[in-house]
Amino acid sequence: MKLPGNGSLMTPPSLTKPGPAATDMAGRRPLWREDFSVHAAEDNYVLRRQFTKFLTLTSAGMLAGNIWIFLRSLFDWPHRQYPQTTVARSSEIAAGGVKLFRYPTENDPCILVRTRAGKLVAYSQKCTHLSCAVYYSAANNRLECPCHEGYFAIETGRVLQGPPPRPLPRIELEQRGEEIVAVGIPAGEHGA
Ligand code: FES
Repeated sequence: MKLPGNGSLMTPPSLTKPGPAATDMAGRRPLWREDFSVHAAEDNYVLRRQFTKFLTLTSAGMLAGNIWIFLRSLFDWPHRQYPQTTVARSSEIAAGGVKLFRYPTENDPCILVRTRAGKLVAYSQKCTHLSCAVYYSAANNRLECPCHEGYFAIETGRVLQGPPPRPLPRIELEQRGEEIVAVGIPAGEHGA
């Protein structure tokens, strides 16, 4: 293709050699060619290149995300350190009794229960469904969520009924003389 007064430009072969559809049987240029792009080959090439770029970037993003999750789990477990916090005195809680406390931070409400069998257990008080506060039902000997009737076993925190997807995170306890001390949360049970 010649440019007026400015030398020549390289022209894609698809433009210099029109295909069979470039003219009709009588050798006339069809009218539709006036309205539609004649750069279809170049357009397809650009689209393929963009699509390949998109796929590459998406794959790289997913790979980076998985590596991040893996590294986080490595550093989170078992090295996570929890405070050792006295949450009650043993004599405070009779069988079937309850005490609320916060652990490991002030933003984490928890519930301590002495079961009817006399065992001390503690859990995060946030329901694993939508974080409503669970309470101890002495009559049913289980933890209950009032929002959507989610029930949890008092001995283990496992889901007995309702929409909660996971057991309640347990708080590990140690009895040191009269004091009941919260010492950690088992790996994989952090937060609701
Ligand atoms: S928030 Fe507890 S069952 Fe829905």
